[in-house]
Amino acid sequence: MSDGIAIEVKKLVKKFGSLTAVNGISFNVREGEIFGFLGPNGAGKTTTISMITTILSPTSGSIKIYGTDVAHEKDAARQLIGIVFQEPSLDDELTGWENLDFHARLYGVKKDKNKIIASVIKLVGLEQAAKRQVKTYSGGMKRRLEIARGFIHKPKILFLDEPTLGLDPQTRRKIWDYIKEINKRDGTTIMLTTHYLEEADALCSRIAIIDNGKIIRSGTSEELKRSLGGDVVRIGVDKKKQLFGLVKRNKLIKKIKESNDGLEITATDGTKVIPIVAKIADSHKINISYATIKRPSLEDVFIRLTGKSIRDETPAVSARFRAMGGMRR
Ligand SMILES: Nc1ncnc2c1ncn2[C@@H]1O[C@H](COP(=O)(O)OP(=O)(O)OP(=O)(O)O)[C@@H](O)[C@H]1O
Ligand SMILES: [Mg+2]
Repeated sequence: MSDGIAIEVKKLVKKFGSLTAVNGISFNVREGEIFGFLGPNGAGKTTTISMITTILSPTSGSIKIYGTDVAHEKDAARQLIGIVFQEPSLDDELTGWENLDFHARLYGVKKDKNKIIASVIKLVGLEQAAKRQVKTYSGGMKRRLEIARGFIHKPKILFLDEPTLGLDPQTRRKIWDYIKEINKRDGTTIMLTTHYLEEADALCSRIAIIDNGKIIRSGTSEELKRSLGGDVVRIGVDKKKQLFGLVKRNKLIKKIKESNDGLEITATDGTKVIPIVAKIADSHKINISYATIKRPSLEDVFIRLTGKSIRDETPAVSARFRAMGGMRR
């Protein structure tokens, strides 16, 4: 039934009045993988997650979770999933333990309830704080507790909407470790949204880049980066015309051009090109002053595909901002 596919989304659309927040997207998430939904503010990430987790009804399109049609079998679908919302949703007056206990009862976790709560608390490193009221927690501790809560009923799929939003780099890295651990320990499929490129890069086996309600590219991080054509190697050299002529036909070189002080070469693997070029230069007594490799980042991929940086404000915001007079004096 599940044929290795945990989530199957087909031609999914969500309209809010005249605004199309999700515009006909299709993708699969495989069993046991960490799948990343990467896109800027307002791209449609939360709306998509909300539809998959039965919180919002789609305008059109279909969603299956382990073969279960979400539109027709909401309850069955809900049994399979855990959610960590983008907006915090803990009870501040309760302790960490009590928050988890409440959730466990809600999901009908009876057998070994206390053992399970203790184990997820340990998983996110909150043993010392478990008996304290949540209002005494830091932002990162709250986030860890929310992740533990989403996981307490052992869902087959865990949805994390911006799991590290607004946290400092150190805490974010810790949370990445917990996410990896949950994925590894129980083979839990994880779908997460983020607008942090490094987060998608560090965690996700596959990534879909979403912008303006559409998936503009998907694949592994490596595939996405390779789609830009490869590494850019810059070589500083005194006799650049001569070296250009000597290396330009090399099979490893995809593109080559002269730069101000040398050559700029595009190649699938820059680390292989540098020693070859250096050897040829050496045998012709041509001096190389420097060699650098730049690997494309996911940011480069995003810029190439959309013409803007992922951290730019959304057009909607900037238009509104301009309409309000902005900051111009
Ligand atoms: N309930 C709603 N009513 C009207 N418009 C909505 C509603 N929910 C979302 N939108 C709009 O749909 C678009 C997509 O929003 P969504 O929350 O899915 O984006 P996102 O990718 O999660 O962004 P962020 O990174 O800021 O969380 C936005 O333009 C948003 O303003
Ligand atoms: Mg969101």
